[in-house]
Amino acid sequence: MSRIVYVNGEYVPEHEAKVSVFDRGFLMADGVYEVTSVLDGKLVDFAGHAARLDRSLSELGMESPVSTDELLSIHRELVARNAVEEGMVYLQITRGAPPERDFAFPDPVAIRPTLVLFTQAKPGLADSPVAKTGIKVISIEDIRWGRRDIKTVQLLYPSMGKMMAKKAGADDAWMVEDGMVTEGTSNNAYIVTGNRIVTRHLGNEILAGITRAAVLRFAAEAQMEVEERAFTIDEAKAADEAFITSATTFVMPVVQIDGVPLGDGAPGPVTRRLREIYIEESRKAAV
Ligand code: PDD
Repeated sequence: MSRIVYVNGEYVPEHEAKVSVFDRGFLMADGVYEVTSVLDGKLVDFAGHAARLDRSLSELGMESPVSTDELLSIHRELVARNAVEEGMVYLQITRGAPPERDFAFPDPVAIRPTLVLFTQAKPGLADSPVAKTGIKVISIEDIRWGRRDIKTVQLLYPSMGKMMAKKAGADDAWMVEDGMVTEGTSNNAYIVTGNRIVTRHLGNEILAGITRAAVLRFAAEAQMEVEERAFTIDEAKAADEAFITSATTFVMPVVQIDGVPLGDGAPGPVTRRLREIYIEESRKAAV
């Protein structure tokens, strides 16, 4: 069965989907995106992703071609048409396809944004075997631009970081700026010492993860201590536990940093508990 994707108002088989070669997303990475996870055929934290999308668009002076209600319907329609039980919906909005390549933004009335959505099924997302053993990360320098709070499609350096990790025999990279960890290539980074969870405070330096917001809320409700501040890689290496969060990994244990095992080298109790709570609560609240 061919996957059905959504392009500018139409549901089409993936091999029939078309975007212009002049699209500014393609030529200039002039676009924003969201990834919403799907559990039991339902969307996890759709409202959070929709709100962050609106913010990303407004920071770049762009407008969504459709309302939030319409976006929700499109997400649901795609999940249903592709029979996705576990996985994700990817959404991208670009500044459209003006007839000539030009650095200046096109007139938003004349040139409409491009809206694309597709699904990726990932059976076993919740019951991930990787979550049972954890992942290894390396540290790399953070050389991304200064507005990481906007979820743009400029993902070249994060992709390079992922490849650096693979080359080093690890799974992902944590990025470090001015001696402090910012975040993972496509996730937020946390360390745990005792019952205290530390993760970088929000700002232009990191993306405000939707999973992050939920996890910090659940942690507080479970009487865990949460501290939002920057930390160094050395502090992370000395921590009892570490983990990452994102829509595609939920809460994922980190068991090694730059070759140094954390604790006994296995996922720790705080991380395991948070993953459990996150998945349980997300299932309940999914729409
Ligand atoms: N990435 N930080 C970065 C740089 C990210 O790219 C992401 C998400 C996050 C976590 O955000 P959230 O919890 O809202 O997924 C943090 C998505 C999953 C991706 O690029 O595929």
